Amino acid sequence: MVSFTKLLTMGLIAALTEASSKRGAAYNEASLVKTLTSGKSGAVSWSYNWADSVDGDMPTGVKYVPMMWGTSSVSGWTSAVKTALSKGSTHILGFNEPDMSSQADMSASSAASLYKEYITPYGDRATLISPAVTSSTTSGQGLDWFKSFMDDCSSCNVSALAVHWYGGSFADLESFMKKAISTAGDYDIDEVWLTEFALDADINGIVDMATSKTFLEKSVAWLDSHPKVGGYAYFYTANNHLLTSGSVNAVGDVYVAASSSSSTSSAKSTTTKKAASTKTKEAASTKTKTAESTKTTDAKNTTTTAKVTKTVTSTKKVTKTVTAKKAAKTA
Ligand code: BGC
Repeated sequence: MVSFTKLLTMGLIAALTEASSKRGAAYNEASLVKTLTSGKSGAVSWSYNWADSVDGDMPTGVKYVPMMWGTSSVSGWTSAVKTALSKGSTHILGFNEPDMSSQADMSASSAASLYKEYITPYGDRATLISPAVTSSTTSGQGLDWFKSFMDDCSSCNVSALAVHWYGGSFADLESFMKKAISTAGDYDIDEVWLTEFALDADINGIVDMATSKTFLEKSVAWLDSHPKVGGYAYFYTANNHLLTSGSVNAVGDVYVAASSSSSTSSAKSTTTKKAASTKTKEAASTKTKTAESTKTTDAKNTTTTAKVTKTVTSTKKVTKTVTAKKAAKTA
């Protein structure tokens, strides 16, 4: 017979394992997160959809992280973020690739003032994550953009740096992440979130399952074990990526099979930099009158272009492939 103490210990271990997962699900369709995590309790601890509301239901144990996508997201933000926080969200994500003209496209200084007005006020209730920058090394983009942002946003209460990466190999991902971790450290930020990543070749859908499986195995192991990585989300929980025809594919299996077990993960922690709570007027949220639904649609409609543009900034060789593929799709 199993003793009560043993059962208790097993329960505690299960709870701890679950609590420590850094792995996230980046999605557009909430139902696919359920499919991805079905029977894999604890494998994914958080999710986001590049938007401010969950748009469906998350499986138990998957915490939704709202994002203020960009300037077009002002309308509706205040009520949406309050709803998310009241339903248990513990983190907030900043703008999506403000360093790219095809994405949120913001100067560091305007991003800083928007951040201060709409995100910083929640620093006493949530861990605030920076705008998510790309891995571009072009001057004024990527980590360079982040530095300018932080120079303008030193009082913004940012506790984590968010980055995106698309490239050719795990080795490149590792070297970019090390750079990001060190840059974050320069601003006294000791956590980096990788909120989009994939091989360049897979931007519009996985090209070779075996290659992507190996890449993901290595990446997940490294991300899980690095104490400065707070969270990560592969691009993304969608058909042709982690799923095929509505079912988890071989790459998706790798993503949810690996045990995400670093004890230092903070995907579920509530560590928040305690800056003086800036009392920024929420009334200002009524300023811009852009319908929330319009924003979401627009954001989604830009996807293909966005991914292609991302490729342009990273590898010219792949750009050709992606562009060719896109042309083939639309032909
Ligand atoms: C875009 C989002 C989109 C997502 C998934 C992101 O890069 O900014 O609007 O929903 O990709 O396609």
